[in-house]
Order: sequence, then C-alpha cells, then structure tokens
Amino acid sequence: MKKVLVTGGAGYIGSHTILALLKAGYQVVSFDNYCNSSPQALQRVKTLAAADDNALVVEQGDILDAARLKEVFVAHQPAVVIHFAGLKAVGESVRLPLNYYQTNVAGTLILCQVMQEAGCTDLVFSSSATVYRPEQQMPLSEEKDRFAVNPYGQSKLMVEYILEDFAKANPEWNIALLRYFNPVGADVSGQIGEDPNGLPNNLMPFISQVAVGKLDKLSIFGDDYPTPDGTGVRDYIHVSDLADGHLAAMRYLESKPGLEAFNLGSGAGHSVLEIVKTFEQVNQVSVPYQIVERRPGDAPVSYACPDKSLHLLGWKTKKTLVDMVRDSWNWQKQNPNGYTS
Ligand code: NAD
Ligand code: WQD
Repeated sequence: MKKVLVTGGAGYIGSHTILALLKAGYQVVSFDNYCNSSPQALQRVKTLAAADDNALVVEQGDILDAARLKEVFVAHQPAVVIHFAGLKAVGESVRLPLNYYQTNVAGTLILCQVMQEAGCTDLVFSSSATVYRPEQQMPLSEEKDRFAVNPYGQSKLMVEYILEDFAKANPEWNIALLRYFNPVGADVSGQIGEDPNGLPNNLMPFISQVAVGKLDKLSIFGDDYPTPDGTGVRDYIHVSDLADGHLAAMRYLESKPGLEAFNLGSGAGHSVLEIVKTFEQVNQVSVPYQIVERRPGDAPVSYACPDKSLHLLGWKTKKTLVDMVRDSWNWQKQNPNGYTS
C-alpha cells in the first residue's frame, strides 16, 4: 500500500484524514510543527485505527525548514503528499499578512521543491471555497470567478495560480486542488475534533462552546441578508466526509490527470439560525444568542456545486446536518477543553 506524507497531520482536518487513511490500509507519515495542534490528536488517531508504529510515523518539523523536510523525504520516500499545513484564521491574516504569505505560499513552494528533488509528483492541496469571488450566482462550480477578499484567501488563491503554472511546466505532476466549503463535526467516537485556540472564529465551535457553558452566548452576524430567515447561508460539510474526499482525490491522481480543482461540499445551504435550532433540538441543549451587526467581508450565501467531484472522484457527502451537530457536540462535551481536557 502507498505511503502518504500528510503535512499538518495533527490538525483538525489532517487528523481525521489520517484516521481514514489508516482505516483504508495506507501507511502514513505525519509532518507537523504543532503551532495550532496537539500531538495528542495523533496518539488518539493511532488508538482509534488500532495502528502500529509502522503504519503511522509521526515527524515533527516546519514546512519552511527545507533541510528537515528533505530528511523526512529521504527517510520515508512517500508516494504522495496531502498538504494541510498552513495558517487559517481570516482575521489574523488581516493583522499578520506576512505570516500568512510566508507559511501558506512560501511553505508550499518549499514543499514542492523538496518533492521535485525527491521525485514525488502527486500532491493533494487544501484550498478553500474562499477563493471564489463573493456575491456570484450559486451554486459555485469549479470554473466560477476567483477573487480573494482577505490575505488568507489571497494566500490560497496565489498557491492555486502557482500550482497551475507549475503543473503546466511539469506534466508528470498530478495535483488536486480541493476547495473545502465549511468543515464541521468530528469523528463519531468523539475522540478527535476541532480544538481552536482562544475564541473560536467559526460558527460551529462557537456554538459548541456556548452549549458547554464556556461562552455566554452566540453573536449572530446579521439577520438582514437576502436569505429565507435573514441569516447567512453556508454549505457545511462533515469532516469525516471531507476526509474521505481526500482519499478519493488521491486515488484519482493515479490516473495521471495533471491538475484538477474540486469542490468538497454537499451542495446544500443552511442558515445560521437553522444550525443553532438543529444543534439545540438534536442535542437537547440551549444555545442563547443575540443578533449583532454583519461581520465585514461575509458573503450572504455560499454553497457548492458538487457535480464534478461526484463524476470524476466518485465522491459525495453522506452525513446529514443532524450528524454534524451531534458529532460536534459529542466531541465538545467529552473534551470541554479540547486535547488538554
Ligand atoms: P488546523 O490549524 O487544525 O491544521 C493545520 C495544521 O498545520 C496544524 O496542525 C498546524 O500545527 C500545522 N502547521 C501550521 N503551520 C505549519 C508549518 N509551518 N509547518 C508544519 N506544520 C504547520 O487547520 P485545519 O482546519 O485542519 O485546516 C487544514 C488546511 O485546510 C489548512 O491549510 C486550511 O487553510 C485549509 N482549510 C481549512 C478550512 C476550515 O474551515 N477548517 C476550510 C478551507 C480550507
Ligand atoms: C459561517 C456563518 C457567519 C461565527 C470561514 C472562512 C473560510 C473557510 C471556512 C478556511 C457565517 C456566521 C459565524 C459567529 C455567526 N476557512 N457566524 N457568528 O465565514 O463561511 O468561512 O471558514 O478556508 O475561508 O472565511 O465560516 O464559520 O466563520 O461562518 O453568525 O460567531 O456563521 O456570519 O454566515 P465562513 P464561519
């Protein structure tokens, strides 16, 4: 079975993807500097998958450190790389743009250079639905306009453009640009999940922390959008479905397609109020909220056209909104303080 190098393997999406890879029988090497994660996540993944030290090798390092990356490539000779490592907080990217361009753009360049030297030419890249220009006709298919509205989004868009040029110049490379919509939920075990540092930026971890009593109430950013109940609409995707999308993309690269972009989303939109109400009903908890001003930069509506992923990858989401809110809560209540619980 193929050996897969997973950068950012201890993170939220990386840990769920490693679990799916191990369950499918792949050998995995995780490479992470733990700047936004805990090595404990990988310990738990190992236990959940009943994996031995051979199946999951854990390496610590920074993707900006080319010498360390080279060492890992020489030691393990992975056949394919799934590249999650990066910084992802939109607000922080506005304050610290250089950090975002350094880690997300320069980090990916360094990774590609090291892969090239090692003769490893298959790459699955974590892009984002944030690369689509806001306020266009829904659903968003892969050829819709791209335009970034903040440095985080710009860093993802720059990497997409760079990889497009790189793939043209190097036809032996196979690259999947995976544009995630809104990942939520946790493994059904409740043993791994999203563990944000400080105040959560995203809706679902915020709701979970209100429900568990760590935060007083949710602020809903605007109820005057042109949507059925006035609150923002997004395409939420269960992180375990998202993880499976990476396995499907990796297998697709074996057909040597060159570079392709894929949406990983469900194709359905849900409003903020719908998420809050479903969370309360399914989990039998209360989530107090207040309506506040719109958050600058937020689009009213965003959801995917998932047709290309279905046709070429044979992948579609399986989990429902009920699964998403149940599993988010299951993780939160078992681990009220995340991995330090
Ligand atoms: P995360 O922060 O949980 O995981 C990222 C991992 O990368 C962390 O474990 C972190 O320690 C590691 N990392 C960061 N910089 C590093 C460096 N220089 N060297 C080595 N490791 C480093 O985030 P996530 O939610 O799992 O996201 C994974 C990827 O998916 C990111 O690239 C993110 O931009 C992208 N993405 C996330 C979302 C989302 O909403 N979660 C949506 C779209 C795209
Ligand atoms: C969802 C909805 C908010 C928090 C972000 C990034 C995007 C991608 C996914 C990485 C919106 C509303 C939220 C809160 C609220 N990440 N909301 N109160 O903004 O769609 O996407 O995460 O690539 O790049 O921008 O996700 O979870 O922040 O917001 O009312 O406290 O919830 O207005 O309608 P978003 P989100």
